[in-house]
Amino acid sequence: MTMLTHRFDSALSALLPRAVTRPHRAPEVDRVVLARRSTRAFTDQEVDPAQIREILELAARAPSGTNMQPWQAYVITRPTIARIAAKIDACGVAPEKAQWDDYRYYPDKIPAPLNARRRAVGAALYGALGIGRRDVQAMRTHFRRNLDFFGAPVGIFVTVSRRLEQGSWLDLGMFMQTLLLVAEARGLATCTQAAFAPFHKVIRPEIGMGEDEILVCGIALGHAEQSAPENSFRTERAPLDDWARFVPVAAEV
Ligand SMILES: Cc1cc2nc3c(=O)[nH]c(=O)nc-3n(C[C@H](O)[C@H](O)[C@H](O)COP(=O)(O)O)c2cc1C
Repeated sequence: MTMLTHRFDSALSALLPRAVTRPHRAPEVDRVVLARRSTRAFTDQEVDPAQIREILELAARAPSGTNMQPWQAYVITRPTIARIAAKIDACGVAPEKAQWDDYRYYPDKIPAPLNARRRAVGAALYGALGIGRRDVQAMRTHFRRNLDFFGAPVGIFVTVSRRLEQGSWLDLGMFMQTLLLVAEARGLATCTQAAFAPFHKVIRPEIGMGEDEILVCGIALGHAEQSAPENSFRTERAPLDDWARFVPVAAEV
């Protein structure tokens, strides 16, 4: 056994007693999947640093192509969150005007029915906050809250090397969703935030992120402010038959 394998096995066995599964675990997993949601207001309660490490180690159990594990994560806490938010404010570019100059999340024209789904989540969020459809200023003020991770005590920036291909972005998505679920299973709330990506030039030097990395997302982590209106709505999902086709065997086509 090489040193590397040995170190890896010890780390894994340290996690297993907590992560070990029971035979009929579907209801438990399903509950966690269903309970996860994007949280946009957090309490002041801190997150134990040991728990953050545990969540990251479990998230890294996510699958990745040829087990390359191409993710990089930068964990920051309130003072750094505040410093970065202030620097972004000072850079003079409003969040809604920022250029997606390192990668693009959305095309200019989002096709139907995806554009309607996108509008629905905006309507649900701003509706919950009592922001009218024409109140652009209030929407911008809310959107600015992305930059302080919605008040979360912990922010995680995830990056991927620009020397890699799209496959590694799939891996990063796997990592991120695993992180969200293990956090949820511990009673911690999250919000994935691509809103940081256009500010990579400001964020880069603050976290020591190399030029060869692409800032893909931020993830807010903390305890949900249960009474906050922005946490009061649930997003819907399109019915299964809209997007899944159970292809009949060739003879029946
Ligand atoms: C990669 C990614 C980036 C996202 N970026 C943002 C963001 O910048 N700000 C935000 O408020 N929500 C963001 N979201 C949250 C989505 O709006 C949310 O996942 C979606 O509306 C579904 O709602 P749910 O997460 O509560 O199920 C992002 C989600 C993903 C997966």
